[in-house]
Amino acid sequence: MLKKIMLSIVAVVLLAGVVHLIAQERNDEPATRQTPRQRRGMGRRGEGMTPGGMDRPGRGMGPGQGRFMPGRAGASSIESSPIPKTKAEKKILSILDDMDKNQRRGMMNVPIEDGRLLRLLTETVGAKHVVEIGTSNGYSGIWFCLALRKTGGRLTTYEIDARRASLARENFKRAGIDKLVTLIEGDTHEEVTKLKDPIDVVFIDADKEGYVDYLNKLLPLVRPGGLILAHNINMRGGRGSGIQDYVKAITTNPDLETVFYLQGGGISVTLKKR
Ligand SMILES: C[S@@+](CC[C@H](N)C(=O)[O-])C[C@H]1O[C@@H](n2cnc3c(N)ncnc32)[C@H](O)[C@@H]1O
Repeated sequence: MLKKIMLSIVAVVLLAGVVHLIAQERNDEPATRQTPRQRRGMGRRGEGMTPGGMDRPGRGMGPGQGRFMPGRAGASSIESSPIPKTKAEKKILSILDDMDKNQRRGMMNVPIEDGRLLRLLTETVGAKHVVEIGTSNGYSGIWFCLALRKTGGRLTTYEIDARRASLARENFKRAGIDKLVTLIEGDTHEEVTKLKDPIDVVFIDADKEGYVDYLNKLLPLVRPGGLILAHNINMRGGRGSGIQDYVKAITTNPDLETVFYLQGGGISVTLKKR
């Protein structure tokens, strides 16, 4: 009899345990059931997740393919490399690569992502005439020429330093685009007043205190629908005060529309409205 009572107690305790476990399992379940894709942290397409969940760098990526990089604010940004379409483009890109690796020191060149943007914008507007202030050794100029050889355009570029100007001439030749370029040596503040032809794209990348003067002198020559680009636009303090005056000038003029691209060295992209 005692044995029967003991067995019944054990059975009741076991049953209670099973009921408790089932209840706990129910409480842990998510409010909505996840798909296997969601459980892998990939979300549904169109839910603000990165495509294929590729939010980490270096996941099965090769050269030229999109690569998601962690951004400064924790958000992701995308990186890719230029892929040459022709032998000529490959040669020009290899010269740029060589300049990037072996000549950058003291040349104050734009970073590669800025060079790519200059090329892209120039080709997009079908520029026939680009004016660059601050040639240095010709690095950004060659990026412009990558576009100009396709749009049938030309580059007028200004440099005050004779040594850099001479290096630029060599680099333009090496890249095979020297026929597209007119390099003017001297102080641009004076030289630029001799320009008479219409301009499709202006790139200002020289003395920061001079940006507003360059804008005032060149804006009348920029065709409606043309672009005025300026480098190091997020520079602050010291020489940055010239930049701040420039930012004020381009953001308060109703004839202009400006956006800021801050991924590389910082470029303002200003449209002269039609
Ligand atoms: C930042 S670097 C230009 C870099 C070039 N755009 C590139 O990415 O390859 C600025 C250049 O402007 C030149 N410069 C400065 N003041 C100038 C002026 N008043 N007229 C012409 N060139 C000037 C400097 O000698 C220097 O080579």
